[in-house]
Amino acid sequence: MLSGKNILVAITGGIAAYKICELIRMYKRANANVRVVCTPSALHFVTKLTLQNLSQNEVGVEEFSPEQYKPEHISYADEADIMVIAPATANTIGKIANGICDNLLTSIACAFTKPILIAPAMNCGMWDNNFVQENISKLKNAGFTILEPESGFLACGYEGKGRLCSLEEIFNKTLETLQTQKKLTGKNILITAGGTIEPIDTVRYISNYSSGKMGIALADCAYKQGANVELVTTVDVEKPYTVTKVKTAQDMQKAVGQSFAQTDCIIMAAAVADYRAKNVANYKMKKTDDGNEISIELVKNPDILKEICQKRTTSHPLIVGFCAESENLLKNAKEKLVKKGCDYLIANDISRKDIGFSSDYNEVTILSKNGDFKKLPRAAKTEIAKSILEAIYE
Ligand code: CTP
Repeated sequence: MLSGKNILVAITGGIAAYKICELIRMYKRANANVRVVCTPSALHFVTKLTLQNLSQNEVGVEEFSPEQYKPEHISYADEADIMVIAPATANTIGKIANGICDNLLTSIACAFTKPILIAPAMNCGMWDNNFVQENISKLKNAGFTILEPESGFLACGYEGKGRLCSLEEIFNKTLETLQTQKKLTGKNILITAGGTIEPIDTVRYISNYSSGKMGIALADCAYKQGANVELVTTVDVEKPYTVTKVKTAQDMQKAVGQSFAQTDCIIMAAAVADYRAKNVANYKMKKTDDGNEISIELVKNPDILKEICQKRTTSHPLIVGFCAESENLLKNAKEKLVKKGCDYLIANDISRKDIGFSSDYNEVTILSKNGDFKKLPRAAKTEIAKSILEAIYE
């Protein structure tokens, strides 16, 4: 199952380290090439000799070796297709989330550009600690896969959440990640996300309630599947792929235009404001005493989606639009697909509170230009993202 795959198993200093000996055997039985790297504290729980015998490879602990022409952390990072950190202690999680590289394992994690799975294991009080949870969220947002610990009886005598998840779960996730990773390898995918912000003066603006979650989920998913991703977004995010931060529709138009020629697929998930203030005051506008009303003159923003569809000469790049409707969803979506000229349109019902804008869930219909359509039932945006990418790259 894992023939030809290079798995880097990274072990940190927790009692669950002994279980990883069996995980290495599982990978080896599936024909993977396994290399092991340990923190010095991991060696209090398992010996180098055991790990060396099981992996049939030398085990890395020291960061700098005089025999190597390349620093160790770079050579390990170059070679592996996936890094599996198990068990991951609160200490190592904190270091990775904050860019600290004070041993071989954390330095490799920092240099690693391919998928990283993290299986935490610790005392339940440590797992519930606010700082640990903040670090976990940081890692999740940055595209790491966290295999949450299980609840149960812990080695420290406590009962609660903190026990290493099952080895089968780690093995299956490794397999799934390596299989999906291949699908979009080499594809350059640009995704827009978030609502644009159109200033009125130095302190006020016009915008919308878009959270950017759908676009970000698509970008994370495409990245996990091996694509070179550029996320053009109005939302502040830290990601292991290229993030181009923009504010207005015109900024977004420029960013999309700059990458257009090198892109294989553009997904316009952003909620672009249709209008902007004609004149933006470079001071805070004051209220006046003459009358109760004021008018702000608005001018049309560029329709980025329509423009890029018109600009392409062949069917390259593949262009996918989103469609936010509060009534007559399918009828309006069909018309919009033709009007914009894109290959696919993802129709989104924004009138429902349990899906769409700001929610973690969505329910969409994928319409294609040849008349096909596919309804995706309500699911987490991460799952919807997977299905959208699958449908358009089928
Ligand atoms: N879009 C765009 N530029 C705009 C407006 C929208 O590129 N100025 C894109 C969106 O990113 C989305 C698609 O067009 O992919 C449809 O957006 P939507 O808001 O549903 O439609 P509009 O074109 O704005 O039309 P209307 O608001 O009248 O429904």
